[in-house]
Amino acid sequence: MEVIHTVAELRKYLQGVPNNVFVPTMGNLHDGHLRLVEEAAPRGACTVVSIFVNRLQFGPHEDFDRYPRTLRDDCDKLESIGVDVVFAPDEAELYPQPQQYVVNPGPIEDILEGAVRPGHFRGVATVVLKLFNMVQPKAAVFGKKDYQQCLVLKNMVQQLASPVEIILAETVRADDGLALSSRNQYLSATERAEAPRLYRVLCELKDALHRGTHSYATLEAEAMTELARHGWKPDYITVRRQSDLLPPSEEDRSLVILAAARLGAPRLLDNVELQLNS
Ligand code: PAF
Repeated sequence: MEVIHTVAELRKYLQGVPNNVFVPTMGNLHDGHLRLVEEAAPRGACTVVSIFVNRLQFGPHEDFDRYPRTLRDDCDKLESIGVDVVFAPDEAELYPQPQQYVVNPGPIEDILEGAVRPGHFRGVATVVLKLFNMVQPKAAVFGKKDYQQCLVLKNMVQQLASPVEIILAETVRADDGLALSSRNQYLSATERAEAPRLYRVLCELKDALHRGTHSYATLEAEAMTELARHGWKPDYITVRRQSDLLPPSEEDRSLVILAAARLGAPRLLDNVELQLNS
C-alpha cells in the first residue's frame, strides 16, 4: 500500500491506473469505513482512500481541532483490507491558498443538517469536488448514514456533469442497532447502552407508516417525545421524501426518516428508508 501526501505524487502514481475507485474519509476509521472500502474494491483496478480532516466543513464552534487524527492506525487497518493507495494531504497541500471558489449546493444546504450546521455542505461539496479532481476516480463510495451528504454529492456530480459515479453503501450497525460513527467513542457506558434507542424509534416510526398511519407530524412529535423522555435532546426526527428531502405529499412513496439528536455531548445521526405501497 502506498501512502501519498502530495497531489504531484498522487497524479504520478495514478497515471497508469485509470480505473480507480475512491473512498473519501476524514480518518479515525471504524468498521463502517472499512465496509465502504469493501464496496469499492471489486469495482475497480485500484482502491484509493483519502484521509483529510476538512476545516471547510466545520463551523466556528465545532470540534475541528479536537477531531481525532489517527493516521498510523488508519493506515494499518486499510493495509489489512488490501487498499492500494492512501492519500493523506496536509492542509497546505489541499488548500494552498484560501479557498475562494466553492460549490454551493443550493436549497438543500439550508435544511436539516444544513440548518443546524450552516456552511457544512458547501464545505463537504467543495472538498469532495477538489478530491475528485485530484484522484480522478471512475466511482466514489459514500455511506448512507450521512443521507443528506449523499444527496448533496449525487446532485453535485449530476449538475456539474462530473463523470464520477456515486455509489451509496448501507449503514453499518452494531449488533444492537446503533449506526457506527466516529462520534460513538465519546458516549459514556450509560449513554452507549441508551444509544440504540435512536434506531429503535426510527424503526417504530417506519412500522407505523407501513401500518398506514399518515399523520407524519404526530408520529414525528411522538418519536421526539420518546427520545426526550430518555434524556436525549433531539434536533429533528422527520419524514421526508428521498428525492430532495422535502416534506412528502400524499402521493410520495419513496420516503426516508431522518433523525439527529444529542445524547450527552455527542450528536448522533441516523435514518431509515421506506417504500410505501402504492
Ligand atoms: O463523510 C465524511 O467523512 C466527509 O464529509 C467527507 C465526505 C470525507 C468530506 O470531507
